[in-house]
This record gives sequence, structure tokens and C-alpha cells, in this order.
Amino acid sequence: MTGLVKSVLRRGFNAAERGCDRVFSPALNPFAQLGSLGYFLFWIVAASGIYLFIFFDTGVVNAYASLEWISNDLWYHAGIMRSFHRYASDLMVVVMGLHLLREFSLDRYRGVRWFSWLTGVPIIWFLYISGITGYWLVWDQLAQFVAIVSTELLDWLPIFGEPIARNFLTPESLSGRFFTLMVFLHIAVPLLLLLMMWIHIQRISQPRVNPPRALMAMILTALLATSLWKPALSQGPADLSRVTSEVGIDWYFLPLYPLIDLLSHGVIWALLGGFTLIVLVMPWLPPLKRPQAAVVDLDHCNGCARCVEDCPYEAIRLVPRSDDLPFPNEVAVDPALCVGCGICMGACPSSTPFRRSGELVTGIDLPDLPLKELRDRTIATAATLRGPARILVLACQYGAASGRQDATVSLPCVAMAPPSLIDFILSRDLADGVVIAGCAERACYNRVGVEWTKARIAGKRDPYLRDRVPRERLAMIWADRNERRRFEAELAVFAETVAKLPQTGPRMVRATPSQPSGKSARELVL
Ligand code: HEM
Ligand code: SF4
Ligand code: SF4
Repeated sequence: MTGLVKSVLRRGFNAAERGCDRVFSPALNPFAQLGSLGYFLFWIVAASGIYLFIFFDTGVVNAYASLEWISNDLWYHAGIMRSFHRYASDLMVVVMGLHLLREFSLDRYRGVRWFSWLTGVPIIWFLYISGITGYWLVWDQLAQFVAIVSTELLDWLPIFGEPIARNFLTPESLSGRFFTLMVFLHIAVPLLLLLMMWIHIQRISQPRVNPPRALMAMILTALLATSLWKPALSQGPADLSRVTSEVGIDWYFLPLYPLIDLLSHGVIWALLGGFTLIVLVMPWLPPLKRPQAAVVDLDHCNGCARCVEDCPYEAIRLVPRSDDLPFPNEVAVDPALCVGCGICMGACPSSTPFRRSGELVTGIDLPDLPLKELRDRTIATAATLRGPARILVLACQYGAASGRQDATVSLPCVAMAPPSLIDFILSRDLADGVVIAGCAERACYNRVGVEWTKARIAGKRDPYLRDRVPRERLAMIWADRNERRRFEAELAVFAETVAKLPQTGPRMVRATPSQPSGKSARELVL
């Protein structure tokens, strides 16, 4: 069932993402930036909130009047800030919802990835409480409705000695202290939200918390245009002597409020509790994923820290050397953090398939698909290639070529393949061309696999693909699972191009000093 929901969602996201690729360009695609957009919107809300506080009167008597002053007399600065504050908060809800659904559809929340998902749950609550307490402070008719419905709902829980809804029975019963408590909550809860947002990304290496500048400029322009076109206004002063009949609802923050009025409070709490519980346990629901963690072989590790740099999930630490080799450091993998992507193996200078003798071992290896097996599979698959152009596909198991059998070596991530493997395939004439088939650029299952692979091939990141590798025999196709047809079409075009290239005979290449020798760190030292 969840598989079906995920696949429908992924199709929907993929269609929207491809559309946005065309409109914004892949680098500015907002779908690939939802987390960082959440951060950016938070800062806008915080900055506009601080600005508003200069002019806002926090007393229950004057709160409404001060906001009227802000929106009418000071509309050209504080009024615009008020609209920024409201619309950026609304947008934050949308961005958070899309981010949650997208991570779910990409299946990036299960197994050892539970941490970001679990810490996302309090973020939902804190964001909603921040917004709801904000509406309360306006002390207009909507605020009155929100205050009464919220306190009645809270009174259902056996927490408070006296019903807090009593505060809103008559104008006289409303105490200034209660209002001050709301002001306090509207500042304290967003601070907790920020703390949670920080904790949320602690297990992610080099998290993207700033969207590209052009995207920030677009968001600011859109907020300004909306603020001028439809300024955020109040809905008439609150009057506790009258029952509010019709109020305009903010459907981003208050979608449940009309329902709370209709359903019993017990049902509402059951819905909220049920939703929270289901989201909380989702990472542990079957089918569970338990890839084996990467393992370090100290005899082949010189402590260069490339794997530490490239691991997307902060799973590798540089620690003082524990053996007799003359290097200051070695690395250690935390199995509780490792998702088994193999990117570290692709980064390690010891991962060279050119080794001719002895066991093919590397500094950091994946028990599920060790380097030796990867080389053996590559050779075996290459031996089955036929046709005018023998094309070998190195495929990410989450991209368009997932599940492909013929001419394909499947990997947990394309960045697991060290660039020397491509050199090996072409220089040993195992194939006429190599295709790296990864996830869509904007939706890499392992966050940075696409980025690192592109940088390594372009010679911008270690370990890079050597100059001697004929680039016309290499293609990279980035495509989502739902883009199988496009993938096959691009593959066919590449095969045609390769077929027209001059034939090359077997080119056995000897190890040169600049080529990784394949010797272990211990062998090199001795
Ligand atoms: C406004 C609220 C939120 C903000 C600002 C935010 C921000 C972020 C950021 C910056 C990242 C790292 C992205 C990257 O560099 O790859 C991230 C990852 C993630 N977020 Fe959120 N997040 C929010 C809410 C949520 C919620 C509500 C959930 C789900 C309950 C969630 C689930 C995740 C997951 C699972 C990842 C990790 C994906 C992976 O393993 O690659 N987030 N978030
Ligand atoms: S397999 Fe992936 S997550 Fe695990 S240590 Fe290597 S790079 Fe990090
Ligand atoms: S395992 Fe490889 S990449 Fe990591 S520090 Fe050791 S030699 Fe460097």
C-alpha cells in the first residue's frame, strides 16, 4: 500500500520537477531546494517578526490598534513587513509539507536515515503552534475564534486545573497575563523550532541550508508583490461579548479549525495523535532496509580523509592512527549512521581495479558489494556485450536504469564506482562505451552521488577521471525511475554515436607513477 502511494507521489513530483527544470533551470529547481527554502523562509519570518515587534503593542487592549496603525499608517514599511511575516509563514507550511512528502516519495527516511525524519515531526508541531499563537496576537475576530476553539480543545485534555477557555467568556474575564503568555509562546516556540531545525540536519554532511541567490531573489520579489497586491490585514476587533459568526480562515495554519468546531474534541485529538504516531514510526515499518555498513581495512588506508569528505551522512570520522603505519590518522565508520551507499569506496584512492596480483582490497569497502565483486561483475557483464557498439551501463539502483538486466552493473549509487573503473573498462577494451546511469540530478537518492560523480569526471574532485580516458566513449544520463523511456532513448543515441567512432584494439595499459598502483598503504610504506 505505502509502495503504491510512494510511486504515485513520485510520478507526481517527477512531473512537477521536470516542469520546474524547464522554467527555473535544474540548478534553481525549487523542488530540489525544499529544505534550504524552509530555512530561508524561517529567516524571513524571524526578521520581519523582529521588525514588527518595534511597532506592535503587546497588551491585549492595544494589540489590535497597533496592528491597524502598522497596516494603515505605516503600510509602506511595517505594513509590508506584516505581510512578509504572514505570507512567508504560509509558504513555510507549503514548503515543509512538500519536503515531507518528497522525502517520503524518494524513500529517504527508512532504516538508518530515521534521524532526520523523526526530528522532522516536532518541527511540524512547532511550526503550527508558532503560526496559531501568531494569529492569536492580532486580537481580531479570527484571533477570538482561534483563542476560543484552541482553549476548548486544550481543556479536553486533563492538564489544566481550571478550564482555560474561561478566559474568553466575557471581556472582563480576559486577563492581560494570559495574553502575555501568548506573546511569550509566540517567541519561545519559534526558537524551539529553530533548535529542532538545527538538530534535524545534524546527521547530514554539508546540508544545504541556503538556497541559490537567484531563487532567494525570486522568493523575495514574489513576497513583495503579494504584500503590495493583497496586504495582510486584520478582521475587525475581537469582541468577547459577541459570538463570531463568519471569519476568514488561513487554510495553511488553521485547516483543522472549522473541523474542531464540528467534531468532538476527543476525535480531533485522536486524529492529531494518530497522525503524529504514524509519522513517528514510519522509518521502522516493514519492509525494513538494513544494508551492511562500510568497513575499513587499515592496511589499505592512509588516512587521506577523502571518504570522510564524500560521505553524505557523516558516518565516517577521522581518528588517530591505531596501528604501526606512519600516518597520523585513520578512519572509523559508525554503522548506526551508514546507509551503505558505497560513495566512500568510490572516493578511496586504494579503490583501483587495475591491481593485477593478490586480493583486490581497498581502504573502505562495502560488504554487500565489495570492490573485488564489482570488478568481477563488470568483467562478466562486459563479456556478454554484443552489437556494433558494446555499451556497459553502470546503474544506480534507484534511477531510471534500476532493475535493468542486460549490459548493466547495478550499484547502490553511481558514485560508488571509482573513476578508475571507467578507465579500466575502456583501456582494457571490455566495452566500446560506458554509461553512468544515475538518479535525476535534482533527486539523488544518496543526496550527493550525482554531484560528486560529475565533479570527479570533470576533474574537479578527487579521485578524478584520468585525462587519457576518451570522453566521447563516456556518457552520463541522469533520469528518475519514471523516465525510463527518455533514458533508453538517450542510451540508443549514445550507442549510435559510439558505433561511428573508429575501432580501437585492446589497449593494455601499464601502471604509471601517476596511476593508482593498487598497492596497499602497508606495501607502499615497506
Ligand atoms: C520547516 C521545516 C523543515 C526544514 C527547514 C527542513 C530542512 C531540511 C534540510 C536543510 C535538509 C537537508 C537537505 C540536504 O541538504 O540534502 C533536510 C533533510 C531531511 N528532512 Fe527536513 N526540514 C523540515 C521539515 C521536515 C519534516 C517535517 C520532515 C519529515 C517528517 C523532514 C524530513 C527530512 C528527511 C527525511 C531528510 C533527510 C533526507 C536524506 O536522508 O537525504 N523534514 N531537511
Ligand atoms: S557507505 Fe555511504 S553512508 Fe556509509 S560510510 Fe560510506 S559513504 Fe558514508
Ligand atoms: S579509507 Fe581510503 S579514502 Fe578513507 S581515509 Fe582511508 S585511504 Fe582515504
